[in-house]
Amino acid sequence: TDRLKGRHLLKETDLTAEEFHGLIELAAELKAAKQAGTEQPRLQGRNIALVFEKTSTRTRCAFEVAAADQGARTTYLDPAGSQVGHKESVKDTARVLGRMFDAIQYRGHGQSVVEELAAHAGVPVFNGLTDEWHPTQMLADVLTMTEHTAKPLEHVGLAYLGDARYNMGNSYLVTGALLGMDVRIVAPEELWPAAEVVAQAQRLARWSGARITLTADVQQGVAGADFVATDVWVSMGEPKEVWDARIALLAPYAVTMDVLRATGNPAVKFLHCLPAFHDLGTSVAREVHERHGLTSLEVTDEVFESLHSVVWDEAENRMHTIKALLVATLSR
Ligand code: CP
Ligand code: NVA
Repeated sequence: TDRLKGRHLLKETDLTAEEFHGLIELAAELKAAKQAGTEQPRLQGRNIALVFEKTSTRTRCAFEVAAADQGARTTYLDPAGSQVGHKESVKDTARVLGRMFDAIQYRGHGQSVVEELAAHAGVPVFNGLTDEWHPTQMLADVLTMTEHTAKPLEHVGLAYLGDARYNMGNSYLVTGALLGMDVRIVAPEELWPAAEVVAQAQRLARWSGARITLTADVQQGVAGADFVATDVWVSMGEPKEVWDARIALLAPYAVTMDVLRATGNPAVKFLHCLPAFHDLGTSVAREVHERHGLTSLEVTDEVFESLHSVVWDEAENRMHTIKALLVATLSR
């Protein structure tokens, strides 16, 4: 992972397959070292800015704990409390933070913002989720998959059900293509990734030998899959007006026990980046729950709480993989 020193991670394809695997191996080593109590801090004196224009639990905590374990300090700028893009241009913010910090994590809306930060910061910038991509989540998901299957990734079938024209769908498609997986996007056609994302995945697949399937048919899409993944049906930043239409479109794509059975694979595992749609605390969510009489949309409690579910390993692995990214890019 020496080649990663000083590099950005703005999207999955900033990494070669070899570099991606290198980060996963480093994450597994760091995880084992932490568990054994033998972790060596390699980021003493480093300062990392964590800029969030959308809320977060896992990503923020993963960066903070990973940095602390490695001896680095973090500064959190919350969605309301910073000037980014409101009172100051992204370019100016980049130049200021770049003078004080050794790296910047940025979570926001458009990919163009994180690209602009990276262009002007002069220090590594990490994408902690944009509308288009969620690369640090993919590191965690790939580590989790390697922990839960004995197969090489080239033989692993991953089916993603749900809204696929947003960050998680795009990221699974392109990551699966990069790493040579059998990746299936299972969604109504209007929610498939954009044509240029599909074309990019197809180009990657020609190199990696990945198999790429886009289908609206759940039975066909999940047959033989080793992992079934989903995400919330309405993402952060989307207006509440989209809820009803989205629920109508995606109702057949909820991950139920029948969907897991349709894989034909008794060892199938369930992935979800979280948060899952259990949030009764917001008025929009409460309204949706009341109107539709549902406690959960994209996954049933039965699946979520079953032995198929590896979502807590996946969440924990955010921290180990983000630590690997920090060590690979920022250690001396
Ligand atoms: N999966 C994920 O990115 O979670 P947070 O939104 O809580 O950071
Ligand atoms: N698609 C979701 C992912 C959250 C981690 C969102 O963007 O809100």
